[in-house]
Amino acid sequence: MAKLEILRYPDPRLHKIARPVAKVDDRIRALVDDMHETMLAAEGVGLAATQVDVHERVIVIDTSPARDNLLVLINPEIVARGEDTVISEEGCLSVPETYERVERHAQVTVRALDRDGRSRDIETDGLLAVCVQHEMDHLQGKVFVQYLSMLKRTRIKAKLLKQARESLREP
Ligand code: NI
Repeated sequence: MAKLEILRYPDPRLHKIARPVAKVDDRIRALVDDMHETMLAAEGVGLAATQVDVHERVIVIDTSPARDNLLVLINPEIVARGEDTVISEEGCLSVPETYERVERHAQVTVRALDRDGRSRDIETDGLLAVCVQHEMDHLQGKVFVQYLSMLKRTRIKAKLLKQARESLREP
């Protein structure tokens, strides 16, 4: 396993659209393992392949408190949505130290392949449902700050660009 570099907003590569995985093989399983390690090391609850500059439809999620319940979603699609919506504070490993309120469906059913290539339907609600929708947005090239006002987004962009410049200057 290897830790991968996480792209940071406003990196334009975060807006690439991921293509479907043609075959769940050892290459994809190695990617899943690396993404899992990268997510745990960064203390995130979810990571999309887009965020590590791999533009294929692969997501890892673990919202369990003990970080021992990995969910692998390959070629995910939402097959059902609840009518209720929920507003929660979201963060993203690609947008460090930024938490903003976003509205999502409260329940979604996602159909995806697991790491063995088997198709499953998974009913989700709560944090998991929010996380599934957030990560699936990444595969479409969408970062959660795009739901915010232009003013807020401009501020976030400026803050992150400043941080990136400062980190370059540090020895
Ligand atoms: Ni994210």
